[in-house]
Amino acid sequence: METYGCQMNFSDSEIVASILFDKGYFSTEEITQADIIFINTCSIRDNAEQRVKKRLQQFRSYKKRNPALIIGLLGCMADRIKTVLLEEEQLLDVISGPDSYRDLPRLLEQVESGQPGVNTLLSMEETYADITPVRLGSNGISAFISIMRGCENYCSYCVVPSTRGRERSRETGSIIHEAQDLFSRGYREITLLGQNVNSYRWTEEEEEVNFAKLLIRIARIDSLLRIRFATSHPKDISDELLEAIAAHPNICKSIHLPVQSGSSRVLELMNRKYSREQYMERVDAIRRIIPGCAISTDIITGFCNEAEEDHRETLSLMEWIGFDYAFMFNYSERPQTLAAETLDDNIPQEVKERRLKEVIDLQQKLSYQRNSEDLHQVFEVLVEGESKRSGDQFMGRNSQNKVVVFPKKRSKPGDYVRVKIHQCTSATLLGKIID
Ligand code: SAH
Ligand code: SF4
Ligand code: F3S
Repeated sequence: METYGCQMNFSDSEIVASILFDKGYFSTEEITQADIIFINTCSIRDNAEQRVKKRLQQFRSYKKRNPALIIGLLGCMADRIKTVLLEEEQLLDVISGPDSYRDLPRLLEQVESGQPGVNTLLSMEETYADITPVRLGSNGISAFISIMRGCENYCSYCVVPSTRGRERSRETGSIIHEAQDLFSRGYREITLLGQNVNSYRWTEEEEEVNFAKLLIRIARIDSLLRIRFATSHPKDISDELLEAIAAHPNICKSIHLPVQSGSSRVLELMNRKYSREQYMERVDAIRRIIPGCAISTDIITGFCNEAEEDHRETLSLMEWIGFDYAFMFNYSERPQTLAAETLDDNIPQEVKERRLKEVIDLQQKLSYQRNSEDLHQVFEVLVEGESKRSGDQFMGRNSQNKVVVFPKKRSKPGDYVRVKIHQCTSATLLGKIID
């Protein structure tokens, strides 16, 4: 199985693996040995889809060598291009959307009887709450837990509401149980996933559990279990949530708060439901309630009608906030979105690219500045494993989600160590364990 796209998709691949392992299938690292190849796909930008299509062409050669090979496409591209892919390409045997993974064993049986297996129906209820994911490629320390599915925010540029359907929360008890189980198996860090975790809501025994309450319940499992979460929508990140983060040392001091643009005019066109000023007010609240909290973001450049002045407002907002980290993208028009239907994708490619470069260059400078502020400070770091560059060094993260690299010195993965920082780049902190 290969996975493209976001953390939610990665988490879904672990659910798919669990469903198939239960039916007696097992996985292989060697693709040429596989009888079935699944590719879990992403539609978020055009280049994400192009990568998947290229990969499918490579699968074609495997199928020539082994005509019995079954190829399945899962995830966010499934519904959008099922007819094209089935009829024109004649490569795929199985197509399954994000809510129909329980149906995969039946779809595979259908293939054995000579018919392609297709199910891309979206559901109002499916949360896979009872399925224990098989941890794929895990370091044994950090794991994802999906707490909700779908999205109903309808940002005008975004395909997710149409690929993943209605927003629904997963039952609280099953989330707590999964977290407890991971902790007892040695995991020390979990990341709760949803497109907008702030709107998590589950009612049980007349009590409503919102996201802040869910976080507190998980934080109480054990002080050695770290909790992260993504993604927070700026329009509904509440003080109650910020206070819960501040009050629990094991809830990490790092918030991913995608801003998308620094211009209120563009934010309105994007249907983000907050203004530049409202975003700044939330950042002030984070700084006031959780001192030392890292803030990361997502930015789209060259959205429809974005004037040079709007772009400069994005740059000035970035400077004002001093984001620790950012994911930055050129706008890519997606079919069946509000923007594709009602707005003109009118910023020339070279202007989009120049603006993106300015945003990336500025962020690089800001990340370096933020990391420099950490010099000579001591952080508690959860050891994840060996650093990529050297077998003598470990890598881990601090509460602010920054990667820290340091000499091993009697520590092992899963330990918490105190590291004093003596050097940094824009991406990494370097330090030494202190006793
Ligand atoms: N639910 C999350 C984001 C999910 S998609 C949120 O609301 O923040 C991850 C990021 O991809 C988005 O934050 C956005 O910056 C980017 N993105 C989404 N659609 C895009 C598009 N059509 N073109 C370019 N970037 C896009
Ligand atoms: Fe897309 Fe907006 Fe939903 Fe995020 S909140 S997934 S950007 S529609
Ligand atoms: Fe994720 Fe891509 Fe789908 S970002 S939700 S896999 S469109």
